[in-house]
Amino acid sequence: MQTLQHTLTEQFIEREEKFNAHNYHPLPVVIERGQGVFVWDVEGKKYYDFLSGYSAINQGHCHPKIVGAMLEQAQKLTLISRAFHSNLLGEFAEYITSYFGYDKVLPMNTGAEAVETALKLARKWAYEVKGIPENQAKILVCNENFHGRTINIISFSTDPDAKNGFGPFNPGYEVIAYNDTNALALALKDPNVCGFLVEPIQGEAGVVVPDEGYLKTCFDMCKEANVLFIADEIQSGLARTGKMLACDHENVKADILILGKALSGGTFPVSAVLCNDDIMLTIKAGQHGSTYGGNPMACKVTIAALQVLKDEQMCENAEIVGAYFREELRTINTPYISLVRGKGLLNAVVIQHSDPDAAWRLCLEMKEHGLIAKPTHGDKIRFSPPLMITKNQIDECVKIIAKSLSCLD
Ligand SMILES: Cc1ncc(COP(=O)(O)O)c(C=O)c1O
Repeated sequence: MQTLQHTLTEQFIEREEKFNAHNYHPLPVVIERGQGVFVWDVEGKKYYDFLSGYSAINQGHCHPKIVGAMLEQAQKLTLISRAFHSNLLGEFAEYITSYFGYDKVLPMNTGAEAVETALKLARKWAYEVKGIPENQAKILVCNENFHGRTINIISFSTDPDAKNGFGPFNPGYEVIAYNDTNALALALKDPNVCGFLVEPIQGEAGVVVPDEGYLKTCFDMCKEANVLFIADEIQSGLARTGKMLACDHENVKADILILGKALSGGTFPVSAVLCNDDIMLTIKAGQHGSTYGGNPMACKVTIAALQVLKDEQMCENAEIVGAYFREELRTINTPYISLVRGKGLLNAVVIQHSDPDAAWRLCLEMKEHGLIAKPTHGDKIRFSPPLMITKNQIDECVKIIAKSLSCLD
């Protein structure tokens, strides 16, 4: 039976590897179904999902209200393009702008597209509002950032894997140290700086949480220098860290807010950029767009996904259960976890071991015990389950993690 089961998983993996690009290194598990905090593989084994689609599934797998909205709209109208109006774009735009308190929204699909949109808005604002000479605008970004993988975005990445072999790169960016207000102060002296793009918590870098007050200080410094504070909340936003936005922890309202991932509750790619009219209206008809951006299904699904976050008090649960999770992780008696960090339910552990593959091996072992998670940057493992996870479930998961750590002995 065991051999047969393994063969089934292997068959799926072999087929994928044969015909699909090798641009990821997945854990050897083949998922076919998901519900809430759980997923099931092709052999019927059940797992806690501790990645949540890189935080796209904050509302849990296949949330009935989100899937319901999608199915209902799918039978009526899926796409009309922006060449015509739809009956839902205005409703969506009004809903999301009042939800986050901005004048306008620009809907896109993937996170990277939304980041590109924000960068374009910042540059347009630089020339038309701030008065920076043509082609001189500069945007500040942080060391160890992750904002997506387009050529433009990797132009300012500091990760060799993301960057090497893909040059030449685009100018117009300056990388400064993350969590370093002095570095920002220095960089802001350049009058051609128009924006500061920052992740309130660096997710891909291994859930790097900056010092308390960092975001607020940066925001104030940007205001002083007439520079746009651009928050990439694609991974940290939408209740993940215990507040609707990670910037809310410091009462910072970004000039440009970038959202993606959980905006559609993991159903399909929906992203959005929010800002006020002085910025958004610098982009005119024909200057930016996307065939699928703002499609009727996305409009319906996004309203449902955002409503679920509020109706089911997902911020509150993420805050309470997340703090409990970190506490419990810290009680595990092991030499292999050197650090537990995070906010709400966006967490990571740093693995300390002589074997550079220890984090990967631990993930393989946790999979055997019914919990799937993935290393990031070698020695870190992100733990970000769907936001409705309960304390009892966390107890069970901490037991799985503790038990699995013995594989590193
Ligand atoms: C902070 C942040 N920005 C942007 C992106 C890119 O999003 P996408 O993969 O949807 O293009 C990600 C994806 O992980 C992210 O975490």
